[in-house]
Amino acid sequence: MIAVDSLRKVYRTPREIVAVDDVSFALEDGEIFGILGRSGAGKSTLLRCLNLLERPTSGTITVDGVDLLSLGEADLRAARRRIGTVFQHGNLLSSRTAAENIAFGLEIAGIPARRRAERVAELLDLVGLGDRGDSHPSQLSGGQQQRVGIARALATDPAVLLCDEATSALDPATTEQILDLVADINARTGVTVVLITHEAEVVRRICHSAALMEAGRFVESGTMLRLVGDPESRLAEILLPTGNPDRTIPGRHLTLAFADERAVDPILSRLTRDLGVEISILGGTLERVAGHQVGRLRVAHDSRDGVTDDDVVDYLRAAGVTVTAA
Ligand SMILES: Nc1ncnc2c1ncn2[C@@H]1O[C@H](COP(=O)(O)OP(=O)(O)O)[C@@H](O)[C@H]1O
Ligand SMILES: [Mg+2]
Repeated sequence: MIAVDSLRKVYRTPREIVAVDDVSFALEDGEIFGILGRSGAGKSTLLRCLNLLERPTSGTITVDGVDLLSLGEADLRAARRRIGTVFQHGNLLSSRTAAENIAFGLEIAGIPARRRAERVAELLDLVGLGDRGDSHPSQLSGGQQQRVGIARALATDPAVLLCDEATSALDPATTEQILDLVADINARTGVTVVLITHEAEVVRRICHSAALMEAGRFVESGTMLRLVGDPESRLAEILLPTGNPDRTIPGRHLTLAFADERAVDPILSRLTRDLGVEISILGGTLERVAGHQVGRLRVAHDSRDGVTDDDVVDYLRAAGVTVTAA
């Protein structure tokens, strides 16, 4: 398990910049956690603290019960091997082949050559590059280079895989392939994954839980299911947008959120029949997220004949839909 408590990173440049401001979270083993935020939010700084490239100003980072910031040099080197990092541009050594790039961390860890070769072959297979071990980075596509980067990060069998905008330089189709590869590796090896990104698609596609980061802080975080089930969640609105409200449409506007068996169409048609109100769907998204069918809709209803707004809201809530005034 990885846990971060009250992490802060302040740069003095000499102007003081609080890049990471009191961030806390705890991840279960095998979780895929997405941190979504705009450029400058502090995502990369947070990641560099997590992989110990940078020392936090204060706070704690615990991996498998060990407080990383309390370790001496030798223990710290060992701890670093438990954390693998994938960067935006792969950061491969151009003079080394794919296989030699993957082997790099194993050489440093002092793994004997025979064992190293076996492990590299395993890793090349794992990332779908079984026949490209002898290629140099310049002979590989951007997506293939990222596959090598992922294999290299996994070489020392880390507990946590950190990805800093790992798909941001890739086209949409390649992005999907790389994300699906990460999800597949997570399912097969149980490695915990932290993805930082400015792209909603990355979080929507494979994350089990997520946080929205702004100005160094987590302004929201939780499981995907909880977030998308909260009609007031800003992160949910980024992930599953209901669209810009068209205020010229008459009636009371509501935002509905629902998951799994709460298929909303029959609920809305029953509501129309039972209460005699008209419902218009103004916008929304239905998606499969973290293995669940979830949806967010903005609707307008036009109550009449003594049916109040509260009656409509109560009816929807009784049917298991989360409702808030839009
Ligand atoms: N080494 C550094 N020295 C000074 N300021 C930095 C340094 N690295 C990042 N920052 C500042 O910290 C803030 C967060 O940056 P960063 O972590 O790169 O955000 P993100 O990855 O979300 O775009 C920015 O204001 C940035 O200018
Ligand atoms: Mg960054």
